[in-house]
Amino acid sequence: MLLLSIFVASFSVASASDFQREFDLTWGDQRAQILNGGELLTLTLDKASGSGFRSKREYLFGRIDMQIKLVAGNSAGTVTAFYLSSEGPNHDEIDFEFLGNLSGDPYIVHTNVYCQGKGDREQQFYLWFDPTENFHTYSIVWNQQRIIFLVDNIPIRVFNNEESIGVPFPKNQPMRIYSSLWDADNWATRGGLVKTDWSKAPFKAYYRNFNANACTWSNAESNCASQMLNSARNNVWRTQALDASGRRRLRWVQRYFMVYNYCADLKRFPQGRPRECRHSREISTPQNFGVPRSTSTSPCQGSVIDTWFSGPMEGYLDIYMYPRSFVVATAELAVAVFFLSL
Ligand SMILES: *[C@@H]1O[C@H](CO)[C@@H](O)[C@H](O)[C@H]1NC(C)=O
Repeated sequence: MLLLSIFVASFSVASASDFQREFDLTWGDQRAQILNGGELLTLTLDKASGSGFRSKREYLFGRIDMQIKLVAGNSAGTVTAFYLSSEGPNHDEIDFEFLGNLSGDPYIVHTNVYCQGKGDREQQFYLWFDPTENFHTYSIVWNQQRIIFLVDNIPIRVFNNEESIGVPFPKNQPMRIYSSLWDADNWATRGGLVKTDWSKAPFKAYYRNFNANACTWSNAESNCASQMLNSARNNVWRTQALDASGRRRLRWVQRYFMVYNYCADLKRFPQGRPRECRHSREISTPQNFGVPRSTSTSPCQGSVIDTWFSGPMEGYLDIYMYPRSFVVATAELAVAVFFLSL
């Protein structure tokens, strides 16, 4: 037994947090720094440049977790990106992008999935906490069947493998982990209306507790080829899907915090929505988008929220945007009710 566990351990794909060992600082000179013996990484943006880092390893499927504390104060115009990407013209990519805002105004979490060079699958969310006050965990689960985006272990988005109906799915190209902090004030905040205030520079984001339970790729081979690994404990991600509680959480996020969903943007797809939007049950469709359904599967079943907001929200169906006041008013209530209902 001991021998066996030593053997399994030697094949372990998990890599704990040592930024020095796992990442290269790729741009921004001294603006990217690894501190505290590899435990903490900081990125800085000033008027001259942003900064970024990249994983030394390449991965083909896995679960990647990173704790991030985003740029505090007036972060309008800044974007902090955390993503997986392959190389080359027909690259695959799985994105988290955090769009900054004026002090007190909410960040937007922008997500996207690229396959063979084509993205256009954006979903955006507000968060149910202030991401600049503390570290929070942002995770990507990537297996053969689906991609799950999680925030503090709460699923905010699922992109299913729907190759059976002709939707490409990233599964052949190994990816590295990337992160960067840069100026994007031509689009990031309120669509580019709010510009970066350079008098507040330098802007800083913080990273810690990186973890990868993943198959690494080197010399054209995955280290997961070994069957041994299939029995290892840390391989939950390989078949991870949403259970009932996961689906309830996802619905809660999509109902109260979703800002934009490409699947609901009919103006953008006059020829018909992308195929994955027609089939997916996990993704809100225009029929229900923005309108809380008072069904028995609601995470806030019987709560005041369902009845209170089913009326006022209907008016916003056309623009698929929640007004700021609505989000602020409901966010705290929704959080309270949600956590009580778990
Ligand atoms: C910034 O705040 C404004 C006003 O509350 C809001 O409309 C917007 O969605 C927020 N986020 C970004 C990234 O623009």
